[in-house]
Formats: sequence, structure tokens, C-alpha cells
Amino acid sequence: MFTKVFRILLALALTLMVLSAPAFAQEAPVATGDGIVCPEGDADITFAGGDVGSEQEFAQRAADIFTSICPNVSIEILPMVDSATERLNLYLQFFEAQSSDVDVMQVDVIWPAIIAPHVVDMRAYLSDDVDAYFVDMINGQTVDGRLVAIPWFTDAAGLYYRTDLLEKYGLDVPTTWEELEAAAAAIQEGEVAEGNANFAGYVWQGNDYEGLTCDAHEWLVSTTGDTFITTDGEVNVTDDAFADLVERAVGWVGGISPEGVTTYQEEDSRNVWQAGNAAFMRNWPYAYNLGNADDSAVAGKFDWVPLPTGGVRVAACLGGWQLAVSKYSESVDAAAAFAKYITGYEQQLQRAYFQGQFPTIPAVYEDPAIASDPLFAAAGPIIGTAFARPSVITGSQYQAASAVFAGGIHDILTGSVDVETGLEDLEIELEDFLADMGM
Ligand code: GLC
Repeated sequence: MFTKVFRILLALALTLMVLSAPAFAQEAPVATGDGIVCPEGDADITFAGGDVGSEQEFAQRAADIFTSICPNVSIEILPMVDSATERLNLYLQFFEAQSSDVDVMQVDVIWPAIIAPHVVDMRAYLSDDVDAYFVDMINGQTVDGRLVAIPWFTDAAGLYYRTDLLEKYGLDVPTTWEELEAAAAAIQEGEVAEGNANFAGYVWQGNDYEGLTCDAHEWLVSTTGDTFITTDGEVNVTDDAFADLVERAVGWVGGISPEGVTTYQEEDSRNVWQAGNAAFMRNWPYAYNLGNADDSAVAGKFDWVPLPTGGVRVAACLGGWQLAVSKYSESVDAAAAFAKYITGYEQQLQRAYFQGQFPTIPAVYEDPAIASDPLFAAAGPIIGTAFARPSVITGSQYQAASAVFAGGIHDILTGSVDVETGLEDLEIELEDFLADMGM
């Protein structure tokens, strides 16, 4: 029998094992297992979560709390690939085989229609607790009346910049892509001249995967105001202002950005940035607390703001992750109980405080533990610039459409094709794609 005191001590011990404490002085929230409802009977469940930044360690901590309170359940955390694209491909293989090897899965905000046939309706498991979440997020994960996944954290990309270097070079925070390019070039030139040959002006995500769909989409929405497939089902990739910005980005590769940026995912950019080798970085909120950790060369030397405008608007890709339970699981109740706990208030507060992830439960933002966190103070304006990828209009075909978009942009960035031809080819390919979908 686990007493309350034991639970609190255990939770305290787990909390003290923190990897990176946030930069602001606020007492760390303690996880006691509040909200856990143990399932009946023994169950061994497997959780496929993320491993970007410190995600896996935090999932392990939540699992340890859960299993200490529900010793009838064991939880295995599966190591996962970082790339959202590869992760989905892996899940699709599990689904195809109707495999019970994975019970709980961390799923991307753009996948509800793709995963819907293979996952359990979480609405009954959440019951009235569903009202605690942002209603739009719940609606976004509802397919044909079924809640296919519980929103866990939300993401909006921003521009990280080195406050010390902007001061050193007498530069203002850039608000247009042109200004970003100029500031990045000036700082890079200065730092390289001072002997840091590895210094880059700007790091971002140029690999051929979902991350590039986000980065290039930000260029597109900031210059045209719309996504690559618009809500009216039109293909939108050949606008002149967008083409000019893509041309600019081609120049970034091997210019203000390392030649290898066309292979970069989030963690590659963060590694360069956190070693102190970049002036600017495009990335998600998770990089904020990690950047301020003791082992970071940029701790206390950066800030983050909305991305630059492309003339029409500022546009941040809206991301985020949810938890789904596989319908092929042999332990659906235990899997749902764990998913419910780690997406609940207590664990969202833990993740907000320690990992800087944006909660999907509005009340968590009001919690004194994070209410004065500068990360969340900066979050409002950044979230305010967010746009959704066209996953509603493309439904179960989203991943395929996104692969066409990212692939087309990647070909241009790597110089396989010039900008004008590349974008025209991309337009044709996307139109064919829509035609195949019957649109
Ligand atoms: C982040 C976002 C996710 C997006 C991915 C792309 O993890 O939360 O929505 O698809 O980045 O790399």
C-alpha cells in the first residue's frame, strides 16, 4: 500500500532529478500523481513518445510516478526517432500489422484523420475533464465525433536571437526576412573574423521532412497570407513574393547558414545554437529552457520573438503533440489511464515548468509556478502569429501532400532545380495530387 507521504517523497525525489532548471526563480511544482486513476488488473504497456530535447527523460519520470501509484501496471518507454515524418511512417507500419506492440503514441497535431481508423475514442476516458482543455484543440482532434487523441502540448515557432551579439554589433531585433539576413550576415562576418570559423548567422530546419514543411510554410504564409493548399483547395506556391523569399533562402544555404542546413532538423539547429555558434535560430519553445540550462553556452544571452514578416504578415507554424491509444492494444484501459494522467494538469504543469512546453489546458498558464515565467510571457505574441497547416482540407492525405511540398522546396534549396522551374513543377505536382484526391 502506498501512503500519501511516500508518494510525495517519491515525487520530490523525482523532481530533484531535474536535468535543467528554468532560468526564473520560482518554486518547482511537485508531481504527486494527482489525477491518476489506476486501471484494474495487471497490464504491461508501451509508450512511444518523443525524444527531442529532454522529452524521453520526462516521459520516464511520469511513467515512474504512474507505476509507483499503480504497481499493477508496467510501462516501457520506446526510443523514438525525432523526425515527425519518420515517426508517422513507423506508426503506420504498426497499424498496418495491427500490432499490439505500442499502446500509447505521441501523435502530431496534423495527423488526426490519418490515425483515426487505428485509435480508440478518448472521449469516454476523459469524460467531463474534456472541458479543461482548449475547446479548439479538442475539436481539432475530433474526427467523426471521436476524440482520436488528447492534446498534450502545443507548439508555435519563434525567432531565437543572441541579445549579447545584437548589442555588440549595434543591431536591432530584425522584423523582416531582409533585416534578419542582413543582421545574420554582419554578425557572422564579425565572429568569423574574430576566429570562430564555425559561426553561422542563422540556423533553421532544411532537411526534407515535416520540419521543412513548417519552415518553408512560414516563408509562404508571411508573403502570401495563405498555406500551400488554401482553405478553398487552391494550390499556392508560385506567388512572386514567395519566390523571391525562396531565392533568398537558397542564398542562405552556405551563406548565413551552414551548407549542411539542408540536412538539419530541430536538434541539429539547437546543437549549433546552444554551443554558441549561431546568431539566430528558428525553433520551437522547447529550445528555451534547454538554452538556459547550465551546460548551455548561450544561457542568459538570448531572447525569442515572433518570426520576421514577409510583407503580408508574421507567420509561425502551429505545431503540437497529443496522446493516442492504439485500438490494437491489449491493454486499452491501462493505456488510456496513463495517457489521461500525463496529459492532465499535473504533468502539463511539470512539462511547462521544466521543459517550457505550452500547455493545452488554459488553467495551467495561470498556475503561480509558471505565471511569471518569461518564456510564457513571450509566448502570447508568438502564438498570436500561428497558422495551421492544411491538414483539415487534405485529411488522411496530409502527409503525402506535405511530402510533395517539402520535397519540392528541398530540391530548390539543394540546387537540383532553379526557383522558378522548381515552384512551377511543385504547382503541377500539387495540382495532380489534388486531382487524384478528387478536388
Ligand atoms: C514540432 C511540431 C510538430 C511539427 C514538427 C516538425 O515537433 O510540434 O507539429 O510537425 O515540429 O518538425
